Amino acid sequence: MSTKRNAPFVMEMKPGNYAWCACGESEKQPFCDGSHARKNTGMQPVRVTIDAKKKVAWCGCKESAKKPFCDGTHSKL
Ligand code: FES
Repeated sequence: MSTKRNAPFVMEMKPGNYAWCACGESEKQPFCDGSHARKNTGMQPVRVTIDAKKKVAWCGCKESAKKPFCDGTHSKL
C-alpha cells in the first residue's frame, strides 16, 4: 500500500546523506526503507547531501519537479 501523501514532510535536518523515497512505498517516509526493491517497483531512491542544519520540505506526493524537495505540486493534484 502506498505511503505517500498529499503534503510535504517538513523536518529540521542535520548535515548528512539522505535517501528520499521515490517509489511511495516506504514505511519510513519521506526516506527510503528498501521497500522499492522488496516490492519490485523498479524505482530507486533519490540520494541527497544536506550540507548544513536547516529546515527541509521533503516532497510527500512524489510528483515534485524538484525531487526530493517540495515544489507545491501536491496542491495541484
Ligand atoms: S522505499 Fe521508496 S525508493 Fe526506496
